[in-house]
Amino acid sequence: MVELRIEPVGPSMGAEISGIDLSEPLSSQNAEAIRKAFLDYQVIFFHDQDLTAPQFKALGEVFGDAYPHFFARNLGGDLQNINIISGDEDSRIRGTADRHVMFHSDGSYFEYPTGASLLLGKKIPSLGGDTLFVNMYDAYDTLHPALQRACEELQILHTFPNFTKSNPQGLNPKYFSDHPGNGIDEGSLNGRLHPLVIVHPETGRKALNVNRQFANKIADMHETQARQLLNLLVEHCTSTPEFQFRFQWKTGSIAIWDNRCTLHTPIKDYSVPREMWRITIHGTKPLQGVAPELESVAA
Ligand code: SIN
Repeated sequence: MVELRIEPVGPSMGAEISGIDLSEPLSSQNAEAIRKAFLDYQVIFFHDQDLTAPQFKALGEVFGDAYPHFFARNLGGDLQNINIISGDEDSRIRGTADRHVMFHSDGSYFEYPTGASLLLGKKIPSLGGDTLFVNMYDAYDTLHPALQRACEELQILHTFPNFTKSNPQGLNPKYFSDHPGNGIDEGSLNGRLHPLVIVHPETGRKALNVNRQFANKIADMHETQARQLLNLLVEHCTSTPEFQFRFQWKTGSIAIWDNRCTLHTPIKDYSVPREMWRITIHGTKPLQGVAPELESVAA
């Protein structure tokens, strides 16, 4: 019998899991090992998994309750929690993913930001279309302690971009009429305040909670300082190769990442069709990361 193998693929983050056929029901022991690897390595990868939609849905259940994300069309019916992510202009909200995707954490503008995301490669360009990941524990750990303490006291506004009330036409009306009630609300459009440093609810580790795509303002700070601090933090996260990992897809590859401690971005360097299926798992309300000395003051 082939044994499940978990091998790190990068010094900072990421592990590849082999020796398992995900089209078969997972034993509770393997499901637990996969969940542990997801928490230990922030993103896990599988190859050669030719899954049907129901099999992919079953894999998603290992990570929690899924929801159909509003930003792309989905498979519908019982499979509505599987979104189709493709270069098809019609399937996406204009002006976001295909051309302007930047490093982000899925759903960071929701009151309960996304926990895990699962992506299955269905149609992969022969060259290009990789996904880049950032380890946000390392992003926090490598800040100067004085900056860590300052960040721990701050809140940051996360907003679904370009679709403020002044630009509601930015939303794809076709998608909304076909799929009513799929998620985005006033809070996401107006922006939601979340802690700038969060404590991961399962590992207890602190992570920086910032991204170029959705986080647009640090609260209660002079505008210029807020912008400069945001730029500094985003630059720190996205320009430090030491805590990034670049994943090269093949058809049948799967990536499962933890949005509570990572950022990711697709690289739009291809011009042939690329199609992925995505499952998005509900998360919890972010917990504020407080430095130990502040914790004792707060207690
Ligand atoms: C995403 O941003 O959720 C998709 C990433 C990708 O298509 O590589």
